[in-house]
Amino acid sequence: MFVFILGREFRLSLAEIYSLFPGAIFEFANEQIAILSGVSEGEVCAHFAHMGGTIKVIKILDEVKDAPDFMTAAKEYLFEVERTNKVPFAVAAYGEKLDNFATGLRIKKFLKSCEDKSFRLVNKEPKNINSAVYKKEHLAESNTEMNYIKAGKISYMGITIAYQDVDAYAARDMDKTRDMGVGMLPPKLAQTMINLVGAQSEYCTAIYDPFCGLGTVLIESAYMGYDTVYGSDVSAVMVSAANKSMGEFAVKNDIDIDGLIFEADASKIATTIPESMNTKTTSIVTEGYLGDIMGTKTVTPDKIAEQCRKLARIYDSMFRDLRTIGWRGTIVICFPFWDNRGKDVFFEDILAIIDRYGFERKELLGEDIPFRATVHGSLLYRRPGQTVGREIYKLQLLPKEKLGLKL
Ligand SMILES: C[S@@+](CC[C@H](N)C(=O)[O-])C[C@H]1O[C@@H](n2cnc3c(N)ncnc32)[C@H](O)[C@@H]1O
Repeated sequence: MFVFILGREFRLSLAEIYSLFPGAIFEFANEQIAILSGVSEGEVCAHFAHMGGTIKVIKILDEVKDAPDFMTAAKEYLFEVERTNKVPFAVAAYGEKLDNFATGLRIKKFLKSCEDKSFRLVNKEPKNINSAVYKKEHLAESNTEMNYIKAGKISYMGITIAYQDVDAYAARDMDKTRDMGVGMLPPKLAQTMINLVGAQSEYCTAIYDPFCGLGTVLIESAYMGYDTVYGSDVSAVMVSAANKSMGEFAVKNDIDIDGLIFEADASKIATTIPESMNTKTTSIVTEGYLGDIMGTKTVTPDKIAEQCRKLARIYDSMFRDLRTIGWRGTIVICFPFWDNRGKDVFFEDILAIIDRYGFERKELLGEDIPFRATVHGSLLYRRPGQTVGREIYKLQLLPKEKLGLKL
């Protein structure tokens, strides 16, 4: 079994796991962790490098009674570690607060009798270490971050097998052309949205972002191994910025992007995209246009209503076009919602639009997950303190026989 440590927007993290491991069983899930069985270490590691919503993964080694029993199990594991020089190790805890520093010292004391190697405790404080310390101390090489996990009535001891590389995300973000006056999609969220399509396979080979902006979705898709990524934007300036960011990435990674990023109005999508793009294996993944940027001080119900009217015109036209051409792939898309002085206001017109043109809102969280999507069938992402949040949907045009009933 494997423990997934979830990101801040834990429902999105759970949806990403559910999408990538459809056959797995969620043995346990809360706001912080998900425990999965029915997956192999190879599968977990193959996906983890591109999972924006999981912070780290632990492989469970033992069921333990309580914290003292965990210390014994950790000591026995460390005893067996094959290494001649000093072994660094750390302690982390989930579901029950431990003083990790004190716990680590006690484990170290037990280990004194181990004659052939010595140990160095990495924790300096009671709390869990972060990914930077994990990396700096080379804990991945020794597999010696020892985790105590309390999941309801059962507790476990496990070792960390992968930790999110925050530096790599930051570096890709910094490589992008910035300051273009548009909000940027966090790369981790872009990855999660791409993963919501499903695991990359013969059924999903290409990604298209019709509101590509600076190209975050395009870069992350290419980074995740999609061999074809298409992008378009109504603004020539954005197309050129996306081409520049993607161009640098493409050169570094030997990818051909010639002609794949172009200027187009998403509300006229039926006439702007080549027919060859509309295959079952091309998915639309996009942050979409979120309307004018508003701050906590400038937001008003009237301004929100005005944005909703403007967005409804764009999206009505776009979904009508997608219906006209019979868009075959999956669509993962964000629409805005706003914090109007403590009250969330949603872009509810979109529900009628999606429905009118025959798009089905797909389930994002499986039944054995003890959390639900919103009443709209969406999941939410908002950075603390931001006025505009993103409401994320997974959509699919209904099959022809069902479509006949609509319009
Ligand atoms: C929120 S930004 C997308 C940012 C992008 N995800 C990124 O991380 O760089 C929205 C983009 O939608 C574009 N846009 C607005 N209306 C559009 C339309 N009708 N068709 C295509 N693009 C549009 C804007 O030019 C802007 O670049």
